[in-house]
Amino acid sequence: MGNKLSAVPDVELTVVPKHVAIIMDGNGRWAKKRFLKRVAGHKAGVDTVKMVIETSAQLGVEVVTFFAFSSENWNRPRDEVSTLMDLFVTSLEKEVAQLHEKNIRLRFIGDRSRFSEKLQKRINEAEKLTCDNQGMQIVIAANYGGKWDITDAVRKIAQQIRKGSLEPEDISEELIQNTISLGDLPEPDFFIRTSGEHRISNFMIWQLAYTELYFTDIFWPDFDRVEYVKALKSFADRERRFGKTGEQVAKLNNA
Ligand code: FPP
Repeated sequence: MGNKLSAVPDVELTVVPKHVAIIMDGNGRWAKKRFLKRVAGHKAGVDTVKMVIETSAQLGVEVVTFFAFSSENWNRPRDEVSTLMDLFVTSLEKEVAQLHEKNIRLRFIGDRSRFSEKLQKRINEAEKLTCDNQGMQIVIAANYGGKWDITDAVRKIAQQIRKGSLEPEDISEELIQNTISLGDLPEPDFFIRTSGEHRISNFMIWQLAYTELYFTDIFWPDFDRVEYVKALKSFADRERRFGKTGEQVAKLNNA
């Protein structure tokens, strides 16, 4: 393959997404299939998170955002919610030093005020420790919802208007973009959802406006490196148009 932008021993891709956003779905069904408790699926899912981080770093992906816990997930059985919270705390305790060593920056989006003090502390520590790292960025969306994100941005803009530092006429797409979560990062150019569900489920609904969507039937714990690379190859094969015609895109690519 000519013009390879990225190469690891067994993978060559002509183009890699800058920002991959992932809904990790199917942990519960994976566990059920094995007659295990649902939480066993979440635990197995942590290994897939690690694989995606490692592979993404090798291939030169700049940002990966994982949807770890939605605003709606509070409605799950109490013991599942609390085991998930424990899993977040222990994963942070175990993995943050290594991520920091690899120059990876860790960020969190979502309303963290409902989390335990301990979890909030771990989140703040992880962000602070890694905030100057210049390598890949990992974003964990926790207690996150896309509608919450837009509402929060609107509230911040309204506060500026009340202060008198902004006029309603100044509200633009660019302003909203800069106010919403991750406005300083490249927008996700690739979205993956596992487990056969074909929905966005209130995940980054503003940021996903032009994103290439990829769905696979594989449950998250079974989503291995081969499957991830398959997804990335599918991204590389797609023609990105942004509303332009194929001819316009070809002209731009040849310019
Ligand atoms: C969806 O599967 C998965 C979740 C709600 C939790 C995802 C969390 C992890 C993989 C834990 C580790 C994450 C980090 C960032 C350390 P589901 O339970 O909805 O599966 P189902 O649809 O089969 O029931």
